[in-house]
Amino acid sequence: MNIRPTTKEDFAPIAELLNDQIMNGFAHFGTIQTDAGEIEQSWSSHADTHPWLTAVDNEGNFLGFVKSSPWSPRGGYRWTVEVSVYLVAHARGRGIGRALYDELFRILRLQGYVVVYAGVSLPNEASDRLHKAMGMKPFGEVTPSGFKQGRWVDVRYYQGHLVDPASATPPMPVQPIASVYP
Ligand SMILES: CC(C)(COP(=O)(O)OP(=O)(O)OC[C@H]1O[C@@H](n2cnc3c(N)ncnc32)[C@H](O)[C@@H]1OP(=O)(O)O)[C@@H](O)C(=O)NCCC(=O)NCCS
Repeated sequence: MNIRPTTKEDFAPIAELLNDQIMNGFAHFGTIQTDAGEIEQSWSSHADTHPWLTAVDNEGNFLGFVKSSPWSPRGGYRWTVEVSVYLVAHARGRGIGRALYDELFRILRLQGYVVVYAGVSLPNEASDRLHKAMGMKPFGEVTPSGFKQGRWVDVRYYQGHLVDPASATPPMPVQPIASVYP
């Protein structure tokens, strides 16, 4: 298994993976199928500052991806990112989600980000355990948060610190990805 920056060739498999959650699952709250063009738009809007990583097997086949995005466009949230991770079904439960988050968090830390948030639609034990394993703490639930596939769905929110905020006062300016990662 290899982890590398997300590139153009990944947009179609990412769309397919998200469409499975959009149509059949609850990990994505979309209700209309997405496509490679929409994924490219979402990736390219913050491509210099917010890393996305892809996991592939030894033959280069797509296994999943992790993404980061701004929590909010307001200036005070510059050091705060939202993260999420999705794997194809046969890649789950083998530590790949953890490996993707480990690498993403490492890069985010080098860039100078301080706070990470994630939302987990419930129930999702694997995702709950993954976020806790990353040292993130649940700080609340929105019950219900949305309605999909005939039922109301709750969302639990997690927060984590990439560095101790007390040691980042004031935080350093956020660096572009290219200055810390190939
Ligand atoms: C959630 C997801 C990313 C987790 O990644 P993963 O590679 O399967 O998880 P890992 O193998 O790295 O394991 C992470 C933790 O979850 C636990 N876990 C993994 N699969 C599990 C399962 N099916 N049931 C319960 N716990 C599980 C592991 O034991 C580990 O916990 P631990 O550190 O306490 O032992 C993956 O299952 C997935 O893509 N699911 C579908 C999409 C999704 O729900 N994304 C999350 C959006 S918030």
